[in-house]
Amino acid sequence: MRRSEAKPSRAAVEAPGSGALVTGLAAREVLDCRGLPTVQVDLELDGAITGTADVPSGRSTGSAEATELRDGGERFGGYGVLGAVANVEGELREALVGRRLPEQRALDAELVALDGTERKSRLGANAILGVSLAAARARAAAAGTPLYRHLSANAHLLPVPLVNLINGGKHASNDLDFQEFIVIPVGAGSMIEALQISTEVNLALAEILLERYGKSALNTGDEGGYAPAISSPQEALGLLHEAVSAAGHDGRFRYGLDCAATHYHDPRTRTYELAGERRDTEAMIELYLELIRDFDVVTIEDPLDEEDFEGFAELTEASGIQIVGDDLFVTDPRRLRTGVERGAANSLLWKVNQIGTLSEALDAAELAHRSGYTVVVSERSGETEDPIIADLAVALGAGQIKTGAPVRGERTAKYNRLLRISEELGETAVYPGDAFEVAVAA
Ligand code: PGA
Ligand code: ZN
Repeated sequence: MRRSEAKPSRAAVEAPGSGALVTGLAAREVLDCRGLPTVQVDLELDGAITGTADVPSGRSTGSAEATELRDGGERFGGYGVLGAVANVEGELREALVGRRLPEQRALDAELVALDGTERKSRLGANAILGVSLAAARARAAAAGTPLYRHLSANAHLLPVPLVNLINGGKHASNDLDFQEFIVIPVGAGSMIEALQISTEVNLALAEILLERYGKSALNTGDEGGYAPAISSPQEALGLLHEAVSAAGHDGRFRYGLDCAATHYHDPRTRTYELAGERRDTEAMIELYLELIRDFDVVTIEDPLDEEDFEGFAELTEASGIQIVGDDLFVTDPRRLRTGVERGAANSLLWKVNQIGTLSEALDAAELAHRSGYTVVVSERSGETEDPIIADLAVALGAGQIKTGAPVRGERTAKYNRLLRISEELGETAVYPGDAFEVAVAA
């Protein structure tokens, strides 16, 4: 990596022992799973240890998310991130190289202050998050500790995967409006068994799809789940139940949805266009209560529009299941606080790049825990091979992770990292199974 000259004068004003010396900060464009550029950051300590992190990118994004800086213009169809890279290698390098690395919280506060905007639009949340995560990695590496343990010495709770086997919405080119149809291997006894039985269900699902709809039903969406040409959510959930049964795993799975409802909500008429029909909020809530009753659905993410705190509260109360806020909260403690005050949802979808620093995301998780909300750690649809969310899920003791279908490198990187962590934890590892929704509160 390129190194900047050390600046001893700055280092001298740091409190002694506050961290190792930052000797380099570099960034580059790399490709995400869609083949679009994203930011990768290397932060070097003491000329010896490098922490590297990749920044993921969403497609069905909430409007209150932190700003991802894209170059526009011709290059990469406008998706280039050379501006964000230049901000890391310019202003951020200038601010950090030659000093002792501040503690994570101080570092992140400094990055936020340096940017100076509400949503990190000046330097770019993709530039800032890359530095924030690379610093966490570097610090863990300097301590000789895996990241999950560095962040939480007693971490031992593995996350139950919310495995997204059928894709729709903005993640697929079919007519399913809901974005994710999820199976949850609550009846597994370990991480590897969770992946084994989920994969067996995915194989059974492929056979059913092929037989019923023909070869094109085996095309997949952004998160590796199948994207059959169907439009009815009942049909998709029915397929998951059939696949679980065909794989011989009746009773070992429960079911979930990410409806990403903001993306087919019409704010003018306050209605949702779903499977060719218009529904108001009450009709949507009715539908969800039916799906919960008929298909053993135990978790629903973004069932309603991202500004409908009231509707979220009504469904949370009426359903008694886990209602997750993704676009609703955007991992922002301020929006989560509003949700808690209004009883909107009872679970936080946790995506670090929605807010843009590790510390702010940790604050959101802590607020969720304190408020009796569960936390679902999540990937983005545009991912890289960086498995960092596996470590973060274990560090948080979230008990739940959403990282796509158990296929394709950018998804399996996270699953495989969890297998490794589970091996490292050995006998202390806990796979919460059916208790995944209460894991945080426990
Ligand atoms: P996104 O989708 O990364 O495209 O936003 C993931 C999700 O909505 O949970
Ligand atoms: Zn979502």
